[in-house]
Amino acid sequence: MQPTREDRFSFGLWTVGWPANDPFGDATRPALDPVESVHRLAELGAWGVSFHDDDLIPFGADDAVREDRIARFRKALDETGIVVPMATTNLFKHPVFKDGGFTSNDRSVRRFALRKVLRNIDLAAELGASTYVLWGGREGSETDAGKDVRAALDRYREAMNVLTQYVVDQGYDIRFALEPKPNEPRGDILLPTIGHALGFISTLAHSDLVGLNPEVGHEQMAGLNFVHGISQALWQGKLFHIDLNGQKGPRFDQDLIFGHGDLLSAFFLVDLLENGGYDGPRHFDYKPLRTEDVDGVWASAAANMRTYLLLKERAAAFRADPAVQEALAQAKVAELAEPTLAPGETVADLRAADADFDPDAVGARGYGFVELSQLAVEHALGAR
Ligand code: GCO
Ligand code: MN
Ligand code: MN
Ligand code: MN
Repeated sequence: MQPTREDRFSFGLWTVGWPANDPFGDATRPALDPVESVHRLAELGAWGVSFHDDDLIPFGADDAVREDRIARFRKALDETGIVVPMATTNLFKHPVFKDGGFTSNDRSVRRFALRKVLRNIDLAAELGASTYVLWGGREGSETDAGKDVRAALDRYREAMNVLTQYVVDQGYDIRFALEPKPNEPRGDILLPTIGHALGFISTLAHSDLVGLNPEVGHEQMAGLNFVHGISQALWQGKLFHIDLNGQKGPRFDQDLIFGHGDLLSAFFLVDLLENGGYDGPRHFDYKPLRTEDVDGVWASAAANMRTYLLLKERAAAFRADPAVQEALAQAKVAELAEPTLAPGETVADLRAADADFDPDAVGARGYGFVELSQLAVEHALGAR
């Protein structure tokens, strides 16, 4: 269960680096130097790190500070072999973004937000990132009186069209991944779920360059099934990146360690990611518990990766179990892959077919999902 580079585990600098300040209390840990984070994550077996512009370079820093921070970070990457698969922009911390970045009612703020993102895309390209995440945590409102949502979506689309055209013009090998979240910090956030974001993306000028970075806890905050959401994102070719973490139902964004929320959903998620054609980073976006000291931070980073690997092993055992294969057959799971109409069959053929189909007999037949589900639980628990 020792993670290796081949597992492609990555961490946001803001995750391990969170000093554990929350709306009710001060920081409980010292701020971490990104250089130290890169070294510690490499020792633990991680493969990549991601960052917001402001994680690396303090907001408003002058050019000398900026160049120094980037140089130190690059040196740490070179020394450890850690890569930067993804970068993102902080459009939520500074008070200027209190009504949003791309969708602030104030046009001068929207223009500033675009300049901030464009600048960090150049840095992302320099550092070799292939995905640019945009989490619009401040894009939203607390009162429906204060935001024209249709105009906000126009401005969101305008921003995405400007950014995608920019990477095309620069020849950057970068795609964008929007990260949905229903609320927090705004009362209501625009593009609140995977489904809303997919609908929005289909309206963009370069929709091929824009996909999703769904986060486990964010869909669960909305009471939705993350495995179903990820399945649809994969099905639409839009799972560009993923934020793995844990959440206990619809409440504030907990950002728990992966698997420390809905464990069974995490089991099915790993099964899906490993067998469903996702080849992107296994990226953790979590918060080390506020109760922990710095040792606990590194224990939590290791726990994310170990939980993923354990679930990967459990999912493989589930798939390999003859009893599971029999239960899958009984439940007709593979039959769903068969088209409903036969090749060349017309609607007239269909209407004339299956004269002997007996709805009562078929309606009386059990699918055996309980047995299948219990087998999954037992594999997840290591009981088989
Ligand atoms: C959250 C979000 C953020 C974003 C990150 C990337 O927990 O509300 O996940 O952590 O992922 O800021 O922009
Ligand atoms: Mn979150
Ligand atoms: Mn996230
Ligand atoms: Mn987060």
